[in-house]
Order: sequence, then structure tokens, then C-alpha cells
Amino acid sequence: MILPQEIIAKKRDGQTLNEIDIAFFVDGLVSKNFNDAQVGAMAMAIFKQGLSHQETVSLTLAMMNSGKVFSWGDAKSLSLSGPILDKHSTGGVGDKVSFMLAAIVAACGGYVPMISGRGLGHTGGTADKLESIAGFNVQPELAQFKRIVANLGMAIISQTSELAPADKRLYAIRDITATVASIPLITASILSKKLAAGLDVLVMDIKVGNGALMTDLKQARALARSITTVANDAGVNTQAIITDMNQVLGNSAGNALEIEETVKYLTGELHEPRLHQVVVSLAKAMLINSKLAADGESAIVKIDRALASGKAAEIFAKMISALGGPNDLLEKPWRSMNKAEVIIDVLAPCHGYLSTMQTRNIGFSVVGLGGGRTSNEQIIDHSVGFDRILPIATKVNRGDVIARVHASSKVSAELASKQYVEALEFSDASVAEPSIIYRL
Ligand code: URA
Repeated sequence: MILPQEIIAKKRDGQTLNEIDIAFFVDGLVSKNFNDAQVGAMAMAIFKQGLSHQETVSLTLAMMNSGKVFSWGDAKSLSLSGPILDKHSTGGVGDKVSFMLAAIVAACGGYVPMISGRGLGHTGGTADKLESIAGFNVQPELAQFKRIVANLGMAIISQTSELAPADKRLYAIRDITATVASIPLITASILSKKLAAGLDVLVMDIKVGNGALMTDLKQARALARSITTVANDAGVNTQAIITDMNQVLGNSAGNALEIEETVKYLTGELHEPRLHQVVVSLAKAMLINSKLAADGESAIVKIDRALASGKAAEIFAKMISALGGPNDLLEKPWRSMNKAEVIIDVLAPCHGYLSTMQTRNIGFSVVGLGGGRTSNEQIIDHSVGFDRILPIATKVNRGDVIARVHASSKVSAELASKQYVEALEFSDASVAEPSIIYRL
């Protein structure tokens, strides 16, 4: 009989785990044959000793098989006439890319069954953002989810307990044992969920910077390599793109505010340039890798057409109402989302060029306003956050509006405004606009 402590000791001492050891661990995650202390010890052993490529593949596949694995084999009855694709981001602040990207790719003939996460630490969660919209159901029956994907080309829902339950438990314990930032564990965690969705093509958005899980480029590149090799070995055509998270992406951070920015983007009212560049880069990779576009040039033509024709906006609006939301989100977003009680301007404290933004602190400031969780069961306030955020390199005069705070009280608004200013630095000399996409 194998004991959990033997497997833990093997990894602690730097030995290689075989497939049976890994299957025993993953089985123990679901059956609780590994108690919380043993899971924590195992996570720390992996964190310190790492996993080989083969161990990472075995852990990913075992965690994927711990729950339901989607089969789109009934594609004919659902009449899917194109590839099944998805994007996953490692998380950031103001990252609302999933909404526009899924709608654009669906408008170009792809099918995007996107299973999204909740906010984690200082980062926002796509599922939380969707719940800003009155009536929207992020946990439909899987049959309904599949039907909507088949009819519209996209649907975004939240992680269900049926999908990779082993990861759910392992992740919760990693979160409280300082073992999140391990490349093999992140690889297995993300891919066990994504591969369970039965994809043809996956594009990974690896965020790098002071608001991301990976704070330096070397780590981000290592994670990109790990995820792409494991996913490609598992049979899913996967590409990684490294994008900047040294400032809030787009001009808002906060659940309902990010939905409002999405509506403005899809209806053509506002394309914040950095956000647009990330959306286009990821969409281009998805279209080319799935052969929906022959090359970069034709991908761009298709993306522009999906936006300019209003088709992407229409698909997004239909997805919102198909999952219980209103029929008029694009026309009147605030009719079905709560507005914050208090809105105040954040003012520049001096003249100069905005030179750095402590993005993680701004994410935590949104959490402090009530827009994210500090414990699992917490109910969040979707209305709060920041908008009208000015990007790095902007020249400002003292007293200019550099952002707005949306809060539930004057006291919390003023605190968040102070935190926002403290998260910024200004310089007398002009500042170059930071990179948005980094070389792999
Ligand atoms: N997101 C995940 O789903 N898992 C990780 O380990 C890190 C980010």
C-alpha cells in the first residue's frame, strides 16, 4: 500500500514521481486521502524541487481526468461548423480581453466555450465581471452552455465543480501555503481545466509585470514554454503571447466598470490603444492557428470587419441575454448594472509625466473598495472601482483628473483615491510608452 507521506518524501528528496505516484496524489486530492497538511507539504515539495516535463504532463492529465472532460463529438448534432478555440490569461488588473476576444473570434467563424475564473488576490475575475449584469447566470446547465456556444459561437461561464475538481482543492491549498508561483503547478492547474474543455486551439496570454503572477520576463518566458510544450504534447495546438501588466489594462478596473468599457469597445465608442493591441494580437493568433485566417493580414481584415460591422457586438449582446441578462446591454448598460453611490475624481498631485504604476496595489485597492474578495464566501460590490485611468507616459498638470473612483461611501472613495495616487510615480522628463507585447 502506498502512503501519502512516501510520495511527499520522494518529491521532497528530489526524486522523480512516476505516473502511479502522480495518479495516487491526484486521486488523494479528490478522495481526501491526502489531508490538507499533506497536500500543502506535497505542494511545497513540488514548489522547491520542480517537476520534469513528463511529471508535469502526468499531473496535468490526471487533474484533467479528475472531473468531466467535454466531448464535442456530438458536434454534428450541435452543427458546429468551425474550430473550437479558447484563450486563457494568467490574470491581471483591468483585463477584460476575454469579452471582446470571444465575440470577435465567434464573429469570424470560431466556437469559443470559455470557462472563466473568479477574482484571485489582487486580480479581477471574468465570472465576477459578468455577474455585474442583473440576471446573468454564470452557472447554467452544461447542455445549455453547449447549445449557446453552438448557436452563437461563444459563451462565457464560470468554473464548475465538475471540471478538474482535483485542481480546485490543490489551488485552494496552494493559495494559503505560498506555493502558487510554481511553473509546473501553474501549468498543470491552468491546462487541466482548459484541456477538459475539448479545445482544438488554445492561446495563452501570459501577463508579465508588477500586476501579474509573473513579475519578470524570464519567469514569464519559462511559464510560456512550459504551458505550450505540455499543451501541444497533450494534442491541443497552443501558442503563448506575453503581454504587459505594468499598468491597468484599458481605462477601468472594477467589475461593472469593465463591462461598461467592453460595451464601449464593441460598439466602437472607445478603443483604448493598449487594450486594443492585446485583443488584436490574441485574436490574430487564434484565427491563424485555427486556420480561420490564412495569415496575419487576412486575420486583421477579419477582426476589423467583425468590429466595424457590429457582428461581434451583436454576438456578445445575444450571449448576455441567452444567459439570463437583459436585451439592451449595449444600448443601456447601466439599466442592468448598479452604479456606485459615490464617484470622485483622483487628481494629479504634481506636474510631470506618469512614469510608473504599482498595478498590484491598484488591484488591491479595488478589493478594498469591496470589488474583490478577501475570503471565499465574501459577496462583492460590483459597482466599485476606477475608471478614466490615464496610461503611463501621459503628461499631466497638478490638479488634472488622472482617474475616477467609484465607491460605496465618501470615506472609502477618499481612501481609494489616496491609495491610487500613492501607487503612481511622476517624472519631470518625458517617459517612453511601455511595451505591450513582449518577445517570447
Ligand atoms: N490560474 C490558475 O488557474 N491556476 C494557477 O495556478 C495560477 C493561475
